[in-house]
Amino acid sequence: MQYTQSMLCPGTLKDKTIIVTGGGSGLGKSMSRYFLELGAKVVITSRNIEKLTKTADELHKNTGGEVFPIACDVRDYAQVNNVLKQSLDKFGKINGLVNNAAGNFISPTERLSAHAFDIIIDIVLKGTKNMTLALGKYWIEHKIKPATVLNIVTTYAWTGSAFVVPSATAKAGVLAMTRSLAVEWAKYGIRTNAIAPGPFPTKGAWDRLLPGDLRDKFDPAKKIPLKRVGEHQELANLAAYLVSDFSAYINGEVVTIDGGEWLYGAGEFNQLDKISEEMWDALEQMIKNRKK
Ligand code: HXC
Ligand code: NAP
Repeated sequence: MQYTQSMLCPGTLKDKTIIVTGGGSGLGKSMSRYFLELGAKVVITSRNIEKLTKTADELHKNTGGEVFPIACDVRDYAQVNNVLKQSLDKFGKINGLVNNAAGNFISPTERLSAHAFDIIIDIVLKGTKNMTLALGKYWIEHKIKPATVLNIVTTYAWTGSAFVVPSATAKAGVLAMTRSLAVEWAKYGIRTNAIAPGPFPTKGAWDRLLPGDLRDKFDPAKKIPLKRVGEHQELANLAAYLVSDFSAYINGEVVTIDGGEWLYGAGEFNQLDKISEEMWDALEQMIKNRKK
């Protein structure tokens, strides 16, 4: 068994129709592909309809599943409501939402214009709010249950991170929304969870977070205890489980999938993994000698 393999049985998601924001590229595309393989119907949305249509054709060809591309800027509530309407016209019912769309780039915060800061907050936090509110109102009014919201955050949603401050601020808000709604909407049969990925190579993230030779200078794999970046199928396996009914008792959880990366940065003595065996011999002697 390999971690790059599909985890769930065929047909696991056959009664699900799931909207994936940012589903035309990167992790959104990988999750959408796997949902389709498991029998779900999938709506993919983002701003770029050409990209979405190309992805939808590719995913349909590869999986045989029904995938519907709709252009939508998640910052605009009217466009979000249009996604809901068009999805219902096409599939009759929606029971899952994956808030995956995001904007991000590295920058010292003092270099950002107010507009640049807003852009990220609006895509990540306001976009997630818009999608969640529209779907939540629909589920509650029409008594559609069970329903699930899965938010894609990051581990710096709780640690914070320098040089991506708008993203960290917005993802922290999404995490608070996840935990709050998990409690408030459970009575309607709506579960709300999150995934916090560590580094998973995608063009969108790598171009903006590790441009040029930064990806060699700051090779993310080096600061991960498991010494590798994530594989898309690993994240897709987790996402499929969390939107499926197998996870019916998981609500308000944020599942970290980062090979131990954030804890490595946090533990006081974790950097001592760079010490060689010979050096440990010498250090042990020094410590023991002190006692004598
Ligand atoms: C400073 C910048 C900048 C930069 C843009 N701006 N890039 N400021 N440094 N590198 C400023 C612009 O000058 C402008 O401000 C404002 O931001 C908006 O820029 P536009 O290019 O006009 O915006 P737009 O075309 O809407 O594009 C939005 C975007 C872009 C967020 C800037 O990168 C985008 O489309 N991203 C979507 C995909 C994405 O980001 N994926 C990565 C997710 S990775 P002014 O004031 O000049 O108008 C992720 C991983 C996290 O989240 C965890 C990893 C471990
Ligand atoms: P990506 O391919 O760039 O995905 C971001 C998606 O968001 C794109 O498809 C983009 O499509 C869409 N989007 C951006 N602005 C939008 C808007 N205003 N309205 C609608 N859609 C919009 O990058 P990714 O790496 O796969 O990221 C996916 C998610 O994983 C994000 O939430 C990210 O924060 C999270 N994440 C990624 C990593 C990683 O290492 N890759 C780590 C931690 C968390 P358009 O440009 O067509 O709109």
